[in-house]
Amino acid sequence: GKSGYDHYMLKEIHEQPTALRQCFSGRADALDGTITLEEVGEIPQPDAVQFVACGTSYHAALYGAATLREMGIPAEAYLASEYALSPPPLSLGTLVVGITQSGETADTLAALRDAKSRGVTTLALTNTVNSTAARECDHAVYIRAGPEIGVAATKTFSSQLVGCNLLAEELVEGQLDLRPLIESLRNLPDDVQSILDSSAAEAIVEEYGDSDAYFFIGRGKNVAVALEGALKCKEISYEHAEGFPAGELKHGPLALVTPDTPVFAVVTGDDKRAQKTLGNIKEVQARGAPVIAVTDGESDAAEIADETLEIPETTERAAPVLANVQLQLFSYHLADALGRPIDKPRNLAKSVTVE
Ligand code: F6R
Repeated sequence: GKSGYDHYMLKEIHEQPTALRQCFSGRADALDGTITLEEVGEIPQPDAVQFVACGTSYHAALYGAATLREMGIPAEAYLASEYALSPPPLSLGTLVVGITQSGETADTLAALRDAKSRGVTTLALTNTVNSTAARECDHAVYIRAGPEIGVAATKTFSSQLVGCNLLAEELVEGQLDLRPLIESLRNLPDDVQSILDSSAAEAIVEEYGDSDAYFFIGRGKNVAVALEGALKCKEISYEHAEGFPAGELKHGPLALVTPDTPVFAVVTGDDKRAQKTLGNIKEVQARGAPVIAVTDGESDAAEIADETLEIPETTERAAPVLANVQLQLFSYHLADALGRPIDKPRNLAKSVTVE
C-alpha cells in the first residue's frame, strides 16, 4: 500500500534515501577508495560506450555519457527508438549499455538486440531482476531501488545516476582518488532526507502554480536534470514544460519567456558552467520571468534568483541527484494542487512494451 502517503509517487520520492543506500551498499570501500561492481568484473575497459534508453532513463543516460567522457572514454546517449533504425557506427571494443528501469521497454530491447547482432558486448542497467533486458544482455547491473508503482519514475532515476557512477568507476581503470566521490555518494541518503524534510517546493507551487508554462535550464550534467524536471512536470501536472541546455535559450526558447513562465535554473558548484548559467538567469529576468534557482549556494545563483530551492553542498557528480529531488517535489505538489491523477497520468503506461 501507500503507507499513509496520498500517492505512490510521494511514497517513492520519500523512499529515495533507502533506495540510494541499497544501490551503494557493498559496492564501495571508503577507506581504500575503491568501487567494485562484481557483475562487470570481467569486462575490459571499453574503447567507447553507447547508452540506449527512453524517457527518464534516457536522461540518466545523458548523465552517464557525460560522466564517462570526463573520464576520457568516448560516450554518447542515444534514444533507443532512434538507435536500431539509424544505427551509429561502433567498433568491437564498444560497450552498449541499456538503461531501463523495467527491463521490458520494447524500444530499448530492440536497440540492445541491434547492438548484439553487430557483435558487441551489451549491459543492462536495470531495476528488475531477471527482466528481458537483464536476460538478453551479456551483463546486468541492478540498481536495487525496489518496486516502483507510480508511472512517473522517481527513485529509480536517482538510483540510475548512482548506478552510472558505479559503472563508470568500475569500467575505467586508473582513476584518481575516489574517496571524495565515494563519500558524497555515501552521504546522498542523508542529503536527500534533508531536502525531503525542508523543501520549499510547496511554497513555490503556491506562488507560481497558475503560470502559463515552466522552463528548466542547466548545463553539463544538469542538462539531464533540466530535461527530467520538465518531463516530470508535463507528465503528471499536464502543464506545458520544457527543459533545455541553458546555452540554447537565446537560440529560440527565449521567445516564449514572459512574466508568466517561471524558469527553474539548476546551478550547482561554481565552475564556468555555473557562471554562464548566471548570465542566462539575468537574460530571462530581463524578460520579466521569475527565476527559481535550484542551487547549493556555491555560486551567486541564490542571490540573483527570485526564489531558491536549496540543496546541500556535495560533489559535482552527486549534486544532480539532489537538484532533481527538489524538482520531483515541485512537480508532485503542482500536480496535486491541480488535482491530477498523479500515479496514473492519462495516456501513459509504466512499461511501454510496444515499439
Ligand atoms: C517517465 C517515465 C518514462 C520511462 C520510460 C523508460 O517518468 O517513467 O519516461 O522512463 O518509459 O522506461 P524504462 O526505464 O522502464 O525502460
